[in-house]
Amino acid sequence: MTSAAGSPIETARANRAMLGLRGRGAIITGASHGIGRETALRLAAAGAVVVATGRDEPALRSLAIEAECTGGVIHPHRADLTDQADRDRLSAAARRQVGRVSILVHSAGVHRRDSLAHAPVTHFDEQFAVNVRAPYALTQTLLPDLIAAHGDVVFINSTQGLSAAAGVGQYAATN
Ligand SMILES: NC(=O)c1ccc[n+]([C@@H]2O[C@H](COP(=O)([O-])OP(=O)(O)OC[C@H]3O[C@@H](n4cnc5c(N)ncnc54)[C@H](OP(=O)(O)O)[C@@H]3O)[C@@H](O)[C@H]2O)c1
Repeated sequence: MTSAAGSPIETARANRAMLGLRGRGAIITGASHGIGRETALRLAAAGAVVVATGRDEPALRSLAIEAECTGGVIHPHRADLTDQADRDRLSAAARRQVGRVSILVHSAGVHRRDSLAHAPVTHFDEQFAVNVRAPYALTQTLLPDLIAAHGDVVFINSTQGLSAAAGVGQYAATN
């Protein structure tokens, strides 16, 4: 079987998609680590003006420096997304720094493994707060900007939400 990944056609498509990102204001949650960090770097490299958020400030600062080295712009902003005041401060800061927010990527997530028999309900509360409630609330706050910009909202989810494996029932329920 042949794959189009890495082919000239695939590269041309990716380049065209990247061109459409230039100058757009973006917020990436969970940008201090993992998928969110990589997404923030890619968007900044494509010319989007990015607000990168998480709780790990040193990690966010080093992300901003890494983007700067390649000519990208990333504004680091510390926020605990389970906190309404932090979410409001994040939205206000983003509007100041990037103007109208037209891309919102929800990559922040908490993944805990434990059996239904033993998993504390507090772990479920934490995962629900970060994986479900926070993205809902943040999207709602930014909806006027996103609608006005005909923007994009991206939720990074897990296939566990479609078919849960043993020991990840709580996490799966929040995906
Ligand atoms: N990695 C995988 O194989 C995989 C597969 C399928 C789906 N996913 C999903 O993809 C998303 C990203 O996964 P990942 O592996 O990149 O995760 P990760 O490396 O564990 O990073 C999680 C991110 O979420 C942030 N976060 C957690 N709680 C937060 C809170 N209360 N307030 C603000 N930020 C918070 C963390 O920021 P701080 O540490 O700075 O607080 C961190 O940047 C998650 O939703 C995950 O469920 C991952």
